[in-house]
Amino acid sequence: MTRIWQITAYLNYLRKRKTRYHVHSPFVYELVDKVFKDKKRYKEYRELNRLRKKFIQRSDKVEIMDFGTGAGNKDYLIRVKRVGDIVRQSGHSKKQLELLFRLARYFKPETILEFGTSVGVSTTYLSKGYPPAKMITMEGSMGLTTIANETFKKHNLGIEVEVGEFGAILDEVIKNTQKLDMVFFDGNHRKKPTLEYFNKCMKCVHEDSVFMFDDIHWSRGMYKAWEKIKKDKRVSLTIDLYWIGLVFFRKGVAKQNFILY
Ligand SMILES: C[S@@+](CC[C@H](N)C(=O)[O-])C[C@H]1O[C@@H](n2cnc3c(N)ncnc32)[C@H](O)[C@@H]1O
Repeated sequence: MTRIWQITAYLNYLRKRKTRYHVHSPFVYELVDKVFKDKKRYKEYRELNRLRKKFIQRSDKVEIMDFGTGAGNKDYLIRVKRVGDIVRQSGHSKKQLELLFRLARYFKPETILEFGTSVGVSTTYLSKGYPPAKMITMEGSMGLTTIANETFKKHNLGIEVEVGEFGAILDEVIKNTQKLDMVFFDGNHRKKPTLEYFNKCMKCVHEDSVFMFDDIHWSRGMYKAWEKIKKDKRVSLTIDLYWIGLVFFRKGVAKQNFILY
């Protein structure tokens, strides 16, 4: 069912997407030009892509708590999986990760919050994109955070890892953070929790914040959550890049929802 949904969603996206020449917002045009279409090979890519490749090649196993859609109706399921398989199946492509790097580099967020550390691959790309940022990442599987922490230590990254179920730890994380400049929602891809996380993070939002939702077309539930977020009065601008949706809160602009190539 999910597969059929994904194929239909992709065909719809192909039909509706536009190039930058259809964009009349200077802010979005510049974002497309300077970030999405930036072909420069940043020196950091080599080390970052090597790290991702090494993870994919790992055959050691780790115990994970599956909190997301894989757990069905249960709160979580315990599984043992190969590290390489985790990164291949639930991680991102090189191109997607490089875009995360460039988004952090472009927006220069003072504080970044990530839902879903896994072994720390996307966390590292975001953090390297703008090293002065205070990077906080949340993950429910202790086994995964142990691996992630080893990576952060090896790469000298002062990343704050909060271990626990998102719903249980988010209030405390937000209380201690106050201002969120960039949030990457990449865990528990279900409608209700996604909207709950969105609403809680809204407490710390400001005009220049950017929220990034992974897998907005992955399931009917995620798509419904995305549609609701797009319609939220506090949201001024959204960009759908199919695998990720970007949300902005800029004031004084007419509300617009872009579906871009
Ligand atoms: C898609 S993976 C994250 C991938 C990672 N951001 C990357 O690209 O390298 C999602 C992660 O979120 C965690 N997760 C999902 N639902 C959670 C929840 N409700 N509480 C805590 N962790 C959760 C999972 O254990 C999993 O490691």
